[in-house]
Amino acid sequence: MINRYRFGTPIQTGAVVKQIPYSDVETLNSFYFSVEQQTGAYVFTVQLKKLDKVYGLGEQVRGINKRGWIYTSDNEDDPVITDTRTSLYCAHNFISVNAVNKWGAFFDFPAKVVFDIGYTDTNFMTVKCYGDGDLYIIENDDLISVSKEFRSLIGRSYIPPRWAFGIGQSRWGYKTADEIREVVAKYEGSELPLDMVYMDIDYMKDYQDFTINEERFPDFKNFVEEMLSKGVRLIPIVDAAIKVKDDYSIYSEGVEKQAFCVDKKGKPYVVGVWPGDSVLPDVLNDEAAEWFGSKYKFYLDYGIEGFWNDMNEPALFYSKKRLKAVLAEFKKADPEMTIDEFNYFNRKLSSLKNNREDFTEFYHTVDGEKVRHDKVHNLYGYKLTECSSKYLQKYQPKKRHLIFSRSSYIGMHRYGGVWTGDNSSSWHHLLLNLQMLPGLNMCGFLYSGADIGGFASHATEDLLLRWMALAVFTPLYRNHSTNGSRYQEPYNFKAIDKFRQLMKVRYALLPFVYSEFVKCALSDDLLFKPMSFVFPDDKRSLSVEDQLIMGGGVMICPVYEQNAPGRYVYLPEDMLEVRFTNAGIKTKQRKNGNHYVSVLIDQVVFFLRKGYVIPVAKPQNRVGDVDFENVDFIKNIDKETEYTLCIDDGTTTDDLSKYLKTVKVKP
Ligand code: GLC
Repeated sequence: MINRYRFGTPIQTGAVVKQIPYSDVETLNSFYFSVEQQTGAYVFTVQLKKLDKVYGLGEQVRGINKRGWIYTSDNEDDPVITDTRTSLYCAHNFISVNAVNKWGAFFDFPAKVVFDIGYTDTNFMTVKCYGDGDLYIIENDDLISVSKEFRSLIGRSYIPPRWAFGIGQSRWGYKTADEIREVVAKYEGSELPLDMVYMDIDYMKDYQDFTINEERFPDFKNFVEEMLSKGVRLIPIVDAAIKVKDDYSIYSEGVEKQAFCVDKKGKPYVVGVWPGDSVLPDVLNDEAAEWFGSKYKFYLDYGIEGFWNDMNEPALFYSKKRLKAVLAEFKKADPEMTIDEFNYFNRKLSSLKNNREDFTEFYHTVDGEKVRHDKVHNLYGYKLTECSSKYLQKYQPKKRHLIFSRSSYIGMHRYGGVWTGDNSSSWHHLLLNLQMLPGLNMCGFLYSGADIGGFASHATEDLLLRWMALAVFTPLYRNHSTNGSRYQEPYNFKAIDKFRQLMKVRYALLPFVYSEFVKCALSDDLLFKPMSFVFPDDKRSLSVEDQLIMGGGVMICPVYEQNAPGRYVYLPEDMLEVRFTNAGIKTKQRKNGNHYVSVLIDQVVFFLRKGYVIPVAKPQNRVGDVDFENVDFIKNIDKETEYTLCIDDGTTTDDLSKYLKTVKVKP
């Protein structure tokens, strides 16, 4: 059952697709929340019992059970992702609570929301929502049903084309077409599977969206075709900010159409991002959004089929106004300054980036009304991806496109996926990748993944190998790293055979990963479930933080510590150990309980529950070469069972339930 309560007069965020009638706020059961109105905010409080657990919040720091920390939805571009942070790039305001009864809450509030989940007082959860919004309370029998009911409220998750389940190689710094050719050639030379190469901001002319630097990428159309003829798709980045430059048509057209966010006086609000002085498309305004989305035609006409939308929190390196004020103060600075003065200037300089006060300085036009940005801040990345995704569907309605975003809000999950931003080459971030998955799924984001190997800092061979053994299962599989870090394309390490071995497992398991993904999207199910959701009566499972159930029957348990020859795995029931080795697939029955499982660095080990089978294909180097229909099965059954495969052409926009094919599998 879902109840909806309204607080204030919020704008329509578009997060939900079902119209639930409003209930009187007075009837909000204090078993869920008691509400208090403070200046500019609503504060919701609920008591937590000692063993209650809280899940959800999508892309956030810390573990699967969110209890014991403070989490803020205030979309932010900050690449230092540590446990001490409270906000990342997204606002995924759904929580579910494992208390005496099972329930969930969605705070459809587009401004800042602070979830204090047993941080200030371990026995209480308070949620402080700045501004107006709707609260939805979902009650059901168990947490899987709570999350399914919530997902049916927010609408079907985005399903990318099948090729987007292949492996992608990326790096900020592939500066020329030849460099990309070299990446592809080295992949091919090392017989490593590859479906996509991502193009970072280096492909653009002066970091201007919807341009190609023709000196470094001559004859781009032919280049796209050349790559496609090798079975490799190029996936360009698109940033939110548009360079201020009179002879740049996107800028001048946008000014003419009044399609940019404006300051108090109605002038385009100038900020600094990669292209220098820039303006922000007002994607909360329907006409401006439609205009911005239509610009993706530029790439489609080159034969491009996939995109990653970046810097859309929006990220601001500075606002022009604040920069001017700070520089004016700097002019007065005397080099013979005291250390306090030096620290003052230092703080001034670092206060330029993503200054929250700048978000109160510019406006959107929503349904003819001026709306201050901070009141709708968390919707920006969502609306930018919605308008681009809608345009792709309009312009090429017969096929699915790849699109994912750095920033998002619930609702965007219908239009695209997410990657989890600028992580680092750290073992902790490998585990964090796993721990974010169920929360993301609860919030509708099924197509997601982290920068494999880590974006910042320097990846080691063993970290990348272990990360790839987890990434076998994540829908988005992309190795991406920053400029200046160690090159982390697998062929740059010695253990190419080991990388090949792990990457082939992904392609062998594609019919499983893809079919499970599609089935979960169509049925509002979680692709990745916490152990506690699947084994709610098993005390130990309630606190497992490093194993997940994928689809129905697979338990994944990656190794996430350096130099570890394996790991402890907890089995709540007897399961089949499945081991992909360089000498084929090995299986072994394991009794329930604790096991130390050795995992060689080139192996993928997971567990299959009793009564389940999963399909495996002959691995190939491109998704397009994988036979999704004539598959073998890994089985843990003693009587005939069924498995449902998704066998579509991989790009159709038809209802995919038409392509679900159930086959019988004998023991
Ligand atoms: C941002 C993105 C990162 C990208 C970089 C340059 O930091 O998160 O993925 O490589 O910008 O475009």
